[in-house]
Amino acid sequence: SGITTLDAGFKNTSSCKSAITFLDGEKGILRYRGYSIEELAEKSEFLEVAYLLIFGELPTKEQNAKFHSDIQKTALVDEDVKKILDGFPKSAHPMGVLSALTSALTAFNPKSVNVDSEEDMYRAIVKILGKFPVLVAWAYRKEEGLPLSYGDNSLGYVENFLKMMFELPNEKYKMNQTVVKALNKLLILHADHEQNCSTSTVRIAGSSHAGLFASISAGISALWGPLHGGANQAVIEMLEEIKEDGGGYQKYIEKAKDKNDPFRLMGFGHRVYKNFDPRANIIKVSAEEVLNDLGIDDPVLDIARGLAKEALSDEYFKSRNLYPNVDFYSGIIYRALGIPVPMFTAMFALGRLPGWIAQWKEMRIKKEPISRPRQLYIGATLRPFVEESKR
Ligand code: CMC
Repeated sequence: SGITTLDAGFKNTSSCKSAITFLDGEKGILRYRGYSIEELAEKSEFLEVAYLLIFGELPTKEQNAKFHSDIQKTALVDEDVKKILDGFPKSAHPMGVLSALTSALTAFNPKSVNVDSEEDMYRAIVKILGKFPVLVAWAYRKEEGLPLSYGDNSLGYVENFLKMMFELPNEKYKMNQTVVKALNKLLILHADHEQNCSTSTVRIAGSSHAGLFASISAGISALWGPLHGGANQAVIEMLEEIKEDGGGYQKYIEKAKDKNDPFRLMGFGHRVYKNFDPRANIIKVSAEEVLNDLGIDDPVLDIARGLAKEALSDEYFKSRNLYPNVDFYSGIIYRALGIPVPMFTAMFALGRLPGWIAQWKEMRIKKEPISRPRQLYIGATLRPFVEESKR
């Protein structure tokens, strides 16, 4: 059909022009709208970063306050959504629950699909920012068998999320500022990463003019996989397994190097970062701080440190430019914050939400065409139908 270019996995294909996130994988640079990830993680707050990604500039105090209050106004989820949640078994993976409930939000907010005007688009954006943390908290509480929770509008976005997650009946939840600070930082570091698998999925689904919530739901499904957001869960499970196995990581390094063994060192390697992942450097320091501040002695962190040191000096990993990525240390922090392992990827989704929204908005505003890749056909040529009796 005249198509000759093949780029499996889109390793060398730009799918769009974007002004949101700059990434230089060789130099380990990551910037949102021109601001370095290091500076944002240190000085900014998650909601401010969400505004920056979605609208292009850091908000003034007034803009930030209005944005927050508009989000708060939308932060109740229809009570009937609880019935859908009730239908899931307690053992359901939170990512499946989240993807289904996010998609279901369209049914409860059908007008959100119409985003022809700027106001309509804004309404859909604040709605998903308001309701999504509720769904994440509910997915967690369902898994834990806890009663469902509601937010408190006197709290900041991240504090409110922590309240919805951890508030127990008849027990006043005490907000720990180390926890708030660490979670803010983690969410900022996950907020966008240009055309990664889930973001491309959101843009592709949205390019058919499916609504924002349905497009985000598609992104959640893409993020679920262990080669993408699911890696944070896979890392901690791997580190736990090494611990159970006596703590020796050399065996696992050898397994990862063995081409006949499908095992990979989880949390190692990245499609674009070929020298280091700047997010991993920030998270590593943050993990040490959180464990120190909370007075937690986690043997898994020692294993992580040792494994990383050993792998980084190994020729296999050196020659392939394989370094710890953002997910290598994030699970250690989530665990210290009391978040159970199956929820790790849902936390990633909460962090990535502003990026998905910003990328979807950019795609819709620029009126990008429907995404429709081509293929190189390698199947059978024309052949006559074979009757069942002759097969
Ligand atoms: N352990 C062992 N070998 C690896 C690993 C690993 N973690 N990652 C890559 N390799 C090898 C791979 O086998 C290949 O070797 P060879 O050239 O001999 O065939 C070479 O390194 C290049 O790997 P690739 O699979 O062609 O690279 P990719 O860009 O297609 O994959 C990746 C990138 C992140 C999917 C991959 O490195 C991986 O599977 N890592 C483990 C999962 C993980 O940590 N994912 C989180 C990514 S960061 C968070 C996010 O953005 O979601």
